[in-house]
Amino acid sequence: METAWDTLYRWEWFHREQWLPGFRERKRHSPAAFKQIVDGLGGSFVLDSSCGFGLKTLVLHGLGLRVVGSDGCAFAVQKARELAAAEGQAVQFFSAPWAELPERTTDRFEGVFNDALSWIVTRGKFESALRGLCGVLRPGGVLVFMGAAQDSPSDPESRRRLLESEWQRRPRFSIEWRYARDAVTCTSLLVRERGEMYVDEHHLFLIEEGGVQSLETATIRQPVYWHWPLLLEMVLQAGFARLETRTFPGLGAGGTTFRLNVATR
Ligand SMILES: C[S@@+](CC[C@H](N)C(=O)[O-])C[C@H]1O[C@@H](n2cnc3c(N)ncnc32)[C@H](O)[C@@H]1O
Repeated sequence: METAWDTLYRWEWFHREQWLPGFRERKRHSPAAFKQIVDGLGGSFVLDSSCGFGLKTLVLHGLGLRVVGSDGCAFAVQKARELAAAEGQAVQFFSAPWAELPERTTDRFEGVFNDALSWIVTRGKFESALRGLCGVLRPGGVLVFMGAAQDSPSDPESRRRLLESEWQRRPRFSIEWRYARDAVTCTSLLVRERGEMYVDEHHLFLIEEGGVQSLETATIRQPVYWHWPLLLEMVLQAGFARLETRTFPGLGAGGTTFRLNVATR
């Protein structure tokens, strides 16, 4: 069965001509912060565990790291291989859910990067993902991910306020892009829906081909319930020794401050 990520990536790939030229500029922020973290450990063999099309993997490679990319979506991994080959970059990719990483590769890394961990929806899945990610790290290695920061308030009222500001940050409906190729025209719309402790992003792909219209959809949930004390508890249970938030002033888009969570095995 096709997952939401499969659908999303199929249409992202369809309109790649629109985003491919600018990807290194758009994707440079978190890789730069990740590089600073692993450089501080003297490490250079790393895994981009949510690589998608491998865009940040290629940026990390360009920064001089020995990097491998993995992702649960086999379609995205195949396209990552094609993109790397087209760019003449010798980067390896493999397909693996986070929970199964230690069985899917014999490599062990000094750093693992993940930019989608906090989008996991259930605690059971979060815990097994953390165990898998911990299992591919060498002792002393780090898992670097985005999520609630160490000093962020964890009480329900504060988290509701966070949800509200996330909700207000972007419009409820937007047209994301429109692209035509080989007699197929696709218009991508984003519809956001607010839940009790999450925002659902519904990606709608309106397809027109030979006078016939069809619709495909993919929903990605962005929960706000993974607050710091819960993250810490799950990270320690998964086998990590500690968790901290690192701050990178000026490294975010437009010179903003960038924050990443670092779990050390
Ligand atoms: C935000 S996207 C990654 C985007 C990519 N890093 C980039 O910058 O272009 C999140 C990725 O996580 C992957 N993913 C989500 N859940 C996963 C899981 N449980 N195991 C492995 N990959 C997963 C999705 O397939 C998707 O490619």
